[in-house]
Amino acid sequence: GKVAVLFGGTSAEREVSLMSGRAVLAALQAAGVDAHAFDPAERDLHVLKEEGFERVFIALHGRGGEDGTVQGALELMGIPYTGSGVMASALAMDKWRTKMVWLASGLPTPRYAILQADTDWAAVVADLGLPIFVKPAHEGSSMGATKVTAADQLQAAWELAAQYDRLVLAEEFIDGEELTAPFLEDQVLPLVRIVAPDGNYDYQHKYFTDDTRYDCPCGLAPEHEAELRALVMKSAQVLGCRGWGRADLILSAQGRPYLLEMNTSPGMTSHSLVPMSARVAGLEFEALCLKILEGARL
Ligand code: DAL
Ligand code: MG
Repeated sequence: GKVAVLFGGTSAEREVSLMSGRAVLAALQAAGVDAHAFDPAERDLHVLKEEGFERVFIALHGRGGEDGTVQGALELMGIPYTGSGVMASALAMDKWRTKMVWLASGLPTPRYAILQADTDWAAVVADLGLPIFVKPAHEGSSMGATKVTAADQLQAAWELAAQYDRLVLAEEFIDGEELTAPFLEDQVLPLVRIVAPDGNYDYQHKYFTDDTRYDCPCGLAPEHEAELRALVMKSAQVLGCRGWGRADLILSAQGRPYLLEMNTSPGMTSHSLVPMSARVAGLEFEALCLKILEGARL
């Protein structure tokens, strides 16, 4: 039956979603799926039903797509869709509440503070040390995020993040290796180690430059990687995630893992890490897209 690939949308990550969606659409079509592009910024979702779409591949990122809203609409229309359901999508889109669930479950995540206009910046620095990451709670792709290295930069970092979101987080900096771990159904795929040249894996590095090094396999001893995979599976389970997704984490110089966030609709661009990891696991991009689509449900 007909499959709609949802991409584009209206979030700050629209451009990323256009890249992800085009790649997924081409792969599904090449695999013989009757797949069609659908941009919810241009067309109302309710026509999916009228036009006889039987399944949806969600390649939207950010708010209004990755946050449970589209998932809820599809639930009401009775059209199976890929990835997490309403609750887990909404929860994972919120970095603060994600942390609270992880902490309540005994899972490690960096210490943080909520920043507001009247926050005492000096107290935040005294508590979290420097550097500090300042980020909007509901964004992806490092949108609106700043690595603050001196206390007098906090105000400007907060102002930038607050342009994106009413809820702004400051997070302690963990010195160590940046890792990412996709999961596909109940399996965690090989971890990817991210080595940005200046230690800043930001929007440009994520999608446009080719100077970031990605190691997959990630170079950890197999037992150690297995421990981290178990942690990632648990981190997804406690949020209620399903289908597929990608957890980002830091392995400190002391060897302690810290979960940063969960992405329920990860990037599928040429620079993205889920496709890279899947390839190492023996799943080429086309097979990966088919497998994600097979997991579509209500
Ligand atoms: N938010 C981007 C799309 C990602 O995590 O891949
Ligand atoms: Mg993210």
